[in-house]
Amino acid sequence: GLAQDLIGRRIVISAGGTREPLDPVRYLGNRSTGKQGFALARTALARGAQVTLVAANTDLPVPAGADVVRVGTALQLREAMVKAAADADAVVMAAAVADFRPAVYRAGKIKKKDGQEPDPVRLTRNPDILAEISAERAREGQVVVGFAAETDDVLANGRAKLARKRCDLLVVNEVGEKKTFGSADNEAVVLGADGSETPVPYGPKESLADTVWDLVATRLQRGPEA
Ligand code: C5P
Repeated sequence: GLAQDLIGRRIVISAGGTREPLDPVRYLGNRSTGKQGFALARTALARGAQVTLVAANTDLPVPAGADVVRVGTALQLREAMVKAAADADAVVMAAAVADFRPAVYRAGKIKKKDGQEPDPVRLTRNPDILAEISAERAREGQVVVGFAAETDDVLANGRAKLARKRCDLLVVNEVGEKKTFGSADNEAVVLGADGSETPVPYGPKESLADTVWDLVATRLQRGPEA
């Protein structure tokens, strides 16, 4: 079995996908199911970590021993993550966060009117939670991990994103027809701010999760850079 190399470590993981309400019955959402985030939680627990799982709109079974915080929107996810990150050794943003939300929320259901074109939906930006947590570093030596789904120029786009978001590790997935969303399997490359590149062959989301923890554990043992 794997070493208990995360004993005593506090780890915060976001999982699932945010939903941004338009009115009481409708929302803008995405296809994330939360499988990768939940696999990260299970494997971290197996390695001895204390896990807070911030779950957005998933109906997956709760990993035994995890402290679960349920959220719906990006703004709720941000609040829960910033709070939990305050005393975390590592933060992993596996959730699919909506980049935009409807600029106005209609308290009453939007109705169709005979012979009239629908109103356009105006959007506004959501905060970038990963960039915010990376910039803040609530604790010295805190390790921050992001995820990115790319369809083309996967490595170049991944490197640029890692630099932009200032995280320590970025897991880059190539998104395709049957890859990544809703699947039990995944294939990825983990890019490190130190220039490292760790390919993870196609396989269960648990294997990718364990590779992420190997890299996180190494960085935690190394301690904060001088
Ligand atoms: O910019 P992009 O959405 O590709 O970045 C993906 C990474 O950034 C994921 O780790 C995701 O959880 C995080 N993210 C975030 N806040 C946003 C958008 C993405 O933390 N508003």
